[in-house]
Amino acid sequence: MTRLHNIETEFDTVISRKNTQSDKWSRYSDDVIPLWVADMDFASPSIIKDAISERLKHGIFGYTAASESLYNSIKNHLSKHYQWTISDSSIVNLPGLVCALHSGVRTFSNQGDGIVVPGPVYYHLTKAAELSEREVLHVEMKLDNQQRWLPDFDELKIACAKENSRMLLLCNPHNPGGTVYTKEELKRIHEMAKQNDLIVISDEIHCDLILEDVPHVPFASLNDDAKSRTITLMAPSKTFNIAGLGFAFAIIENSKLRNQFNKGKNGIVPSPNLLGLVAAQAAYENGNEWHAQLLEYLKDNRDFIRAKLKDTPIKFASLEATYLEWLDVSELKLNNPHTFFLEAGVGLSDGKDFGNSQFLRLNFGCPRAILEKALDRMVDAMKQLP
Ligand SMILES: Cc1ncc(COP(=O)(O)O)c(C=O)c1O
Repeated sequence: MTRLHNIETEFDTVISRKNTQSDKWSRYSDDVIPLWVADMDFASPSIIKDAISERLKHGIFGYTAASESLYNSIKNHLSKHYQWTISDSSIVNLPGLVCALHSGVRTFSNQGDGIVVPGPVYYHLTKAAELSEREVLHVEMKLDNQQRWLPDFDELKIACAKENSRMLLLCNPHNPGGTVYTKEELKRIHEMAKQNDLIVISDEIHCDLILEDVPHVPFASLNDDAKSRTITLMAPSKTFNIAGLGFAFAIIENSKLRNQFNKGKNGIVPSPNLLGLVAAQAAYENGNEWHAQLLEYLKDNRDFIRAKLKDTPIKFASLEATYLEWLDVSELKLNNPHTFFLEAGVGLSDGKDFGNSQFLRLNFGCPRAILEKALDRMVDAMKQLP
């Protein structure tokens, strides 16, 4: 196996996930390597497993309430990594973020209102608007001269200014595409939101997965106006591979918006899972070392993919964050790229679901050996093309 850094790490350990109630590993037949849904094939850090084991010993698993110590760990994490100070009361516990996207759109807009969504994007941002019968005001993401995916700012301005425009759904870091918005870019976006009095949902679930030396800036941290109109969505689930444990949170500093948001989800969105609360606290308090090693491993995986596929027609953009490569496969001239690679034994995410069927999303949050096998299959399949 070719390694960029020649050191074996715990991330190299291949752990079978078959028959473990894994969504990722049960969708396709056994001969397919699944690199689709955004969770990783790495064991969570032992500090999380130990904290959960300790809690299990107690043996009583009733209704949950987040503790002050969990809130402190969240606040410390945000202050340390993003120089962002938030108040305790601004945190809203959630079992996940998809429900927050959907209930947020229903709470802060009415049928027929316009929801600005730069895309291609993680499909629940678009679905949140579609399923609630709002108008999706799509803004196309384009490559800038540094190969970063960014919304077309002229289109964005027009969409935000539309008469029925009520909300903006931002994904930062962007999934798929991996853009980490700069402060200047966020300020431009904020100006448009402010001028048109839009409520902003900023989905920042991937903010702890930055692969380049660039800072993540929470949209709500820009200034007082941004703080007053933003619902920020965050979670430890992607970073520490605990999506199945069901804990996430929103930060809503504006008490009026927070009350509306809570009312909108009341009785519909359940409380977080107990083990998710325990895991989150352990992750934020003691997960730093593991987290730093994870980022190194992911960076190597990203570079490994680019080295492996460099002589193929697949095109890459810059990928500043996430473990999700957004592959432009248009030059392969395939009617259905997703099926083509599936038949070659690699289960990728279909770009169609995010807004462009000539793209595929490849999840590289896995041991290098699995990644290498999948990439070999992809290269071999492309060699068979005329
Ligand atoms: C941008 C984004 N938001 C939300 C989610 C899912 O959030 P949850 O699992 O907390 O519902 C994902 C999962 O891939 C995502 O990429």
